[in-house]
Amino acid sequence: MNRVYIETYGCQMNEYDSEIVGALLRSSGFALTASPDQADIILINTCSVRENAARRVKARVYELRHARRDNPAVIGLLGCMVTNLKESLLKLPLDFIAGPDSYRHLPDLLQQARNRFRPADYRLSRTETYADIYPLHKSGANAWIAVMRGCDNFCSYCVVPYARGRERSRSIENVVEECRRLVDEGFVQVTLLGQNVNSYHHNGQSFADLLQAVAGVSGIERIRFTSPHPKDFPDELIRMVADYPQICKHIHLPLQAGNDRILHLMRRTYSRAEYLALTEKIRQRVPGIALTTDIIVGFPTETESDFQDTVEVVRQVRFDSAFIFKYSVRPGTAAAKKFADDVSAEDKTDRIVRLNALQREITQEKNRAHIGQIHRVLIEQQGTRKNPLDWQARTDGNKIVILPPAPHRIGEFVDARIVRTGVHTLRGEIA
Ligand code: 5AD
Ligand code: SF4
Repeated sequence: MNRVYIETYGCQMNEYDSEIVGALLRSSGFALTASPDQADIILINTCSVRENAARRVKARVYELRHARRDNPAVIGLLGCMVTNLKESLLKLPLDFIAGPDSYRHLPDLLQQARNRFRPADYRLSRTETYADIYPLHKSGANAWIAVMRGCDNFCSYCVVPYARGRERSRSIENVVEECRRLVDEGFVQVTLLGQNVNSYHHNGQSFADLLQAVAGVSGIERIRFTSPHPKDFPDELIRMVADYPQICKHIHLPLQAGNDRILHLMRRTYSRAEYLALTEKIRQRVPGIALTTDIIVGFPTETESDFQDTVEVVRQVRFDSAFIFKYSVRPGTAAAKKFADDVSAEDKTDRIVRLNALQREITQEKNRAHIGQIHRVLIEQQGTRKNPLDWQARTDGNKIVILPPAPHRIGEFVDARIVRTGVHTLRGEIA
């Protein structure tokens, strides 16, 4: 009666939260299963950052309910959609809903759900960080660590401050302790996570202090972090990325838009010139660093000429890669209240297609520049879509390198010479 299957949508923070949920339930006597058909309890950890993520989850609830019509499971929704849509979700065939700060109550909620109460628990907390819960990490080379939760920025398009509540950080000691345990378990890379990771602060200590402490944990060979906000990028942080060999030479720095009027309406608090100056400074001080970004096209009132300003920034910065999204209205946000979603669906599609094409060209040019170079890569997993025996490894700059079959092991570093490039990956051989 106690087998739990967890399915996760959305960002890495949600992946991490599912690991927390797994650990919490296991310590309460539940067992995890990888198959929804064999589960007594099905949990769907949801995302509401964009409209289509929410739509997919709703369809999935019906699909699971239908698949289990002869042998019903308890089905519950977790995560951001719950805080966002609250009781209205109980119109779906669900047994309970629990928001991102309610996971400690899951054993109770499951009990109530079994008694047919259909409980809803989505109160947000100012203090919950799950700092005392050691998550059930998936095996591999990398472990995620949420060092802060929530967001206080209130960018006008974004639902996260409503879905996940106020910013709160864990103590440095607590994060370092988790890192030590991870090393003991064989992990060699950690990725520090936060909705706004560089606004981390705890008892007067900053994100740079945290990075320094994590870099001091012996056995951690690579440190990544995501996602930082350009407004919280002091010189000290750039210096740390430059100076510490463990800190990967890759920064994901969301641009969102390259036009000042749109940036202002988005409440991003930086201008195009400030963003460009920051990326230039980073490139100067950390030569060869990989920069990637997030961009939204079709924000309310965005004209073709505003969009061209974003195109221009993309040309100028030459990101290694970019996630580009069409704006979608998120109910409850400032943008949803103040602006009509007035860029047509055709224009949004046209802009995303053009920007993706430009970015693909830049990515490919940058990838080709790696041919002949030797990179120290971290072996992450065996098997690709094309060949189950090939290995997937990753460069310091976060590029995936496919290597031919050989007796490697996950977590091993090897020197790879880049021999070819694809759209998203590099092909290498042992140097
Ligand atoms: N519409 C489209 N994209 C969005 N993002 C966040 N909110 C929205 C929205 N309402 C994008 C941003 C963010 C990424 C995680 O999702 O680019 O950086
Ligand atoms: Fe989705 Fe954002 Fe919530 Fe992550 S934090 S699950 S991206 S809404």
